[in-house]
Amino acid sequence: MIEYNESEFLVETEVPEDELIISRTNLKGNITYANETFCVISGYHEEDLLGKPHNIVRHPDMPSAAFEDLWSTIKSGKQWVGIVKNMRKDKGFYWVKAIVSGVYKNGELVEYKSLRTPISYETKLKYQRLYDKMRSENNERTRKVIYE
Ligand SMILES: Cc1cc2nc3c(=O)[nH]c(=O)nc-3n(C[C@H](O)[C@H](O)[C@H](O)COP(=O)(O)O)c2cc1C
Repeated sequence: MIEYNESEFLVETEVPEDELIISRTNLKGNITYANETFCVISGYHEEDLLGKPHNIVRHPDMPSAAFEDLWSTIKSGKQWVGIVKNMRKDKGFYWVKAIVSGVYKNGELVEYKSLRTPISYETKLKYQRLYDKMRSENNERTRKVIYE
């Protein structure tokens, strides 16, 4: 059975200007909430996402240093703002600017939340190059040219 439309494989999904992709996680990073836009843009059903680690949408182009920075920032109580390339269920991708921070109840940290908005083509290019460089410098998965 074909689970996704293969013509969309590796294709970019553009996040509309007027949409906000929202999710929340528990303190371990497991998804506790995803709004409808998150589901539509990532290609997952809500029930595929709830309870899963947020790296379900991790794209292999993302350097691990970006997420180390994200976690150390939010664990120290600060807000993390960064550019993220995510992978859809059908292996297509979408770029966002993410703002990740804590959710507090009566002054106690209970969850984390992330709000995501679209970015420009120039910003996508800039970060694709930066993340390629970061992965290459850290011996993470890189793009290779193969001569036959
Ligand atoms: C609220 C919140 C939102 C997150 N959103 C994303 C996301 O959209 N994409 C992503 O790859 N990781 C996201 N992360 C980071 C993941 O938890 C994870 O650290 C990252 O995908 C790297 O995966 P790894 O830790 O298994 O290497 C988010 C974390 C939190 C706390």
